[in-house]
Amino acid sequence: MLTIGFLGGGNMAAALIGGLLKEKTEDLTVHVVDHHPEKLAKLEALGARTHKEPGDWITACDLLVLAVKPQTMKAAVEPIVKLLNPKGAALSIAAGIEAGVLSGWLGGYPLMRAMPNTPAMVGAGIAGLWSPKGMDESLREAALRVLRAGGEVVEVKNESEIDLVGAIPGSGPAYVFRFMEALEKAGIKRGLSEESAHALALGTVYGAAELARVSGEEFSLLREKVTSKGGTTAKALEVMNRLDIDRMMDEAVEAALKRTAEMKALFR
Ligand SMILES: NC(=O)c1ccc[n+]([C@@H]2O[C@H](COP(=O)([O-])OP(=O)(O)OC[C@H]3O[C@@H](n4cnc5c(N)ncnc54)[C@H](OP(=O)(O)O)[C@@H]3O)[C@@H](O)[C@H]2O)c1
Repeated sequence: MLTIGFLGGGNMAAALIGGLLKEKTEDLTVHVVDHHPEKLAKLEALGARTHKEPGDWITACDLLVLAVKPQTMKAAVEPIVKLLNPKGAALSIAAGIEAGVLSGWLGGYPLMRAMPNTPAMVGAGIAGLWSPKGMDESLREAALRVLRAGGEVVEVKNESEIDLVGAIPGSGPAYVFRFMEALEKAGIKRGLSEESAHALALGTVYGAAELARVSGEEFSLLREKVTSKGGTTAKALEVMNRLDIDRMMDEAVEAALKRTAEMKALFR
């Protein structure tokens, strides 16, 4: 029997709870606390036990998922320190608060960190998990179960790699949506209806990602297979390379990492 609690019942918690409770299982109880009755009502409909405040139920949790915004984390964890299960651990999904800092706020409680992404809402997420040396194996497994409820999980060795997971798949859906917006605009500018341009941009990204996933081939090889010498695709790619798409993505990831470092410094 596993008991998992969520501190905060917002978007990310709802995605993970939805995945955890999709199939009815006898071996899992999920608790969640949030300020908003309407969010709690939706989570209760999924099968979670909902609470307006922390209470004894926190002590029953093997794993407590910290799913509030970074800026509200300190105030949210202060009232629960005395309620924590001494045999349990916490899993933070907040960006930019280091384990040493957050575990300190929790009175030295064992803590793992993860970075999910929004496609978890449809079970197509990819998350990173970092667990410190010596973490109880069953609690690490519990953390993996939470994250797999939203899709795939990659375990990272060093906590600092969680920042990279934040800057690549964490923020990444926004990079892809921005690309889709640009592709859609290019179609509309040349006479496609908004509806057609939207469907064509979406189908392009979805199909390309699915082909890459199913074939398992390198992205560069897949690109070459679409690109005949001197053909239309080659001409379009020449423009993308001239405008230096590699540099654009590199600087975008660097900017996200810089902001993460600034956020981490604020919480130290
Ligand atoms: N969204 C993403 O793409 C993403 C990706 C990876 C990680 N994350 C991380 O996941 C965490 C949650 O993000 P989210 O987008 O799910 O945020 P969200 O939708 O704002 O959910 C947080 C919820 O927690 C509630 N809350 C705040 N303090 C509380 C407390 N003391 N007790 C009970 N409930 C409390 C909030 O209520 P109020 O609104 O009243 O404060 C809100 O309903 C963040 O730390 C974020 O960095 C998000």
